[in-house]
Amino acid sequence: MPNTKEKTLIIMKPDAIHRGIVGEILDRFEQKGIRPVGMKMLKMSDLLLDKHYAQHKGKHFLPHLKKFMKLLPVILVILEGLDVIRVVRSMCGPTDGKNALPGTIRGDYGMSTSANIIHSSEDLKAAKREIGIFFNKNEIFSYSRPDIHFYYAEDEL
Ligand code: CMP
Repeated sequence: MPNTKEKTLIIMKPDAIHRGIVGEILDRFEQKGIRPVGMKMLKMSDLLLDKHYAQHKGKHFLPHLKKFMKLLPVILVILEGLDVIRVVRSMCGPTDGKNALPGTIRGDYGMSTSANIIHSSEDLKAAKREIGIFFNKNEIFSYSRPDIHFYYAEDEL
């Protein structure tokens, strides 16, 4: 069965900004054949964080996580591609950088569970919800790369 075209949200967290690895992270996705279709930089507020991390309400790490997420602005990117939610999560690696394999973003840059460089949506429902928190419809773009046929076989598109 052909994979379906999906959108996912990544958030490059304050530690990614601080270390100056935003371009390097985005480059990994572009080199893989995944397209950015929406992008913005903003300072997280309690309101946005409470919405975004609603499923973590009451967890012991949430106050620390919120404080960390407000240290510097973050960069939000909507990525589009076939099966992109699963692919992007595997490129990020598991939550705890200490468990992430070299070659993944967290495996290459992180040692922490909380300050873990990047967020990516867990599943389709989460991706739709998270994109809706941070982006208006007119901030999401549609275009095709002319080299798309060098990234996918004809029957995969
Ligand atoms: P993220 O992908 O942004 O989704 C939820 C975040 O909560 C996660 O990355 C981590 O930053 C943080 N997190 C999850 N589990 C823990 C934990 N056990 N201790 C500290 N932070 C956590």
